[in-house]
This record gives sequence, C-alpha cells and structure tokens, in this order.
Amino acid sequence: MSYETITVEKRDAVTLITLNRPQALNALNSQVLDELIDAFAAYQADASQLCAVLTGSGDKAFAAGADIKEMSEKAAADFYLDDFFSPWTSEIVKKTRKPWIAAVNGFALGGGCELAMMADFIIASDKARFGQPEINLGVAPGMGGSQRLTKAVGKSKAMEMCLTGRMMGAEEAERANLVARVVPHETLVEEAMKTAATIASKPPMAAIANKEMVNAAFETSLDQGLIIERRIFQILTASEDKKEGMAAFIEKREGQWKGR
Ligand code: HXC
Repeated sequence: MSYETITVEKRDAVTLITLNRPQALNALNSQVLDELIDAFAAYQADASQLCAVLTGSGDKAFAAGADIKEMSEKAAADFYLDDFFSPWTSEIVKKTRKPWIAAVNGFALGGGCELAMMADFIIASDKARFGQPEINLGVAPGMGGSQRLTKAVGKSKAMEMCLTGRMMGAEEAERANLVARVVPHETLVEEAMKTAATIASKPPMAAIANKEMVNAAFETSLDQGLIIERRIFQILTASEDKKEGMAAFIEKREGQWKGR
C-alpha cells in the first residue's frame, strides 16, 4: 500500500511512522485510519523491526483530533453501522504486540489524545498539549478518551478535562502520569528514536511479554493479573534468550538475542 497521509521510515530496527496532514493539523480522517492500520500491520509482520515511534509532521500538532469536516457530514446511522473508529482499537492496539511509542510534538486533542494514549507510552515535547475538547462540539470522546485518560490521570482530572475541554500542557501531563517523559521540542523525535532503539536492543520476545503483562494490569483484577504475570514469566524461562541472557551476565558480555 502506498501512503498519502502518513510516512513510514525504517531506521535499523525502529519504524518511524509520521502523521502527515500538517495543513489540517494531522486531523484523523478515514484515509489516515486505513493507512495507519496498514502501517502498524506491516510493522508487526516485519521481523527486522522491533520497536516503532508514531509522531506528527509539522511544528504544531501530533493530531488535532478526528477530522471534524468528515464527521460533520455523517449521520448517526453511519457512525453506528460502521462502528466508527472501533478498528483503531481492534486493529492497532490489539494486533500490535510489539512495543510502540507516541512522540507527541504539539496538539494531541480529542482523537489525537486518544491515539497517543493507545501507545505503550508517551514521550512529549515541552510544547505538547493534551485535551478532550469534544464537549465543545456537542459530543464526547469516542476512541477511548473517557476510559484511558481516567485510568492514566484519575477521575478528578479526567472529569475536569472532559467537562471543560481545557488543554493540559506537557509538564502537567507528566505530573499527572499521562506521559512518561518530557523532552525539549527540538529533540523529541531523536529522543523517542533513542528510547525505541534501546527497547529494540532487548530480547524481542521478552519485550512483547513485558508489554503483555503491564497491559494485563489494566484489563484484569490483581489476582488474575498476577497469574498472567507468573505464567508469562515461567514461559520466558524456557526461551533461548533466557539462557543467553543469564549466561551473558555471568560471563560479563553482551547478550546475542535470538528472539525466541
Ligand atoms: C479537521 C482540523 C481539525 C480537526 C484543525 N483543523 N483541527 N480539521 N478536523 N480536528 C484544521 C483547521 O480547520 C484549519 O484548516 C487548520 O487545521 C489549522 O487549524 P486552525 O484552527 O486554523 O489553527 P489554530 O488557530 O492554531 O488552532 C489550533 C487548534 C484548533 C486549537 C488545535 O484547530 C482546534 O481547536 N481544532 C479542533 C480540535 C478538536 O476539537 N478536536 C476534537 C475533534 S473531535 P483550514 O482549512 O480552515 O485552514 C474528536 C472525536 C474523537 O476527535 C472521537 C471519535 C469517535
């Protein structure tokens, strides 16, 4: 598939995906959705790629939300019958088992904030601004914002954000645990790519397993989550990379990973 609304670049074992509609502040329309789903599936299928970074082109926005012009022309039946935006979750979040990072370079509003929150974690530029301003359009979050934002920052702040539509700056987002780290705007992609390269240097199966475990904390009770953690840990102890990782530590050398 050739892309018009995103770009994809492979740098060693890291895939950099860039939303590329800067004239519309990278607003997310159906074409962006289709292309992103394809790009994430290609990343997942490519054994040479071990981490991905998603960012926005231009200096202003990661993504300023779902495309309001496209949505304004749709009837309620279209949203309902197409199960509007459910593929983001089913195709990108659930099927991308390998790690990926959102590098938020500016506005991450509405669907843009929700897309960033689908990442395994967020690294934000000091110019990043997060918000769920859907209430101003007479609607509400529809791609996970009310759920993921609440889990990330807690009820009080999530409720305030959704009810007032106000934006949160990068520092506040870091204090509120929405983002893992804030970096200077000019170095954002470089820093995110460096972090992704670090992840890509780890035993790949262990990376997938770590991701699966942490995600289980959001979807299960503590008891179930602890069982999932223990079982995945036990499975990893049968891997060739476990043997190699422990031998490398004892022999004081770098591990050479097989990914199994
Ligand atoms: C379509 C958008 C857009 C969007 C910006 N643009 N956001 N187009 N959908 N979400 C377009 C503008 O129309 C304009 O195009 C160009 O991008 C530049 O935007 P400006 O508004 O001129 O820039 P600025 O004055 O700097 O203001 C930036 C902004 C503002 C504060 C981010 O653009 C804004 O409030 N955007 C909407 C944010 C929003 O409400 N997002 C939530 C969407 S709802 P033209 O052609 O006019 O120059 C949503 C629902 C998710 O995401 C759930 C779905 C199920």
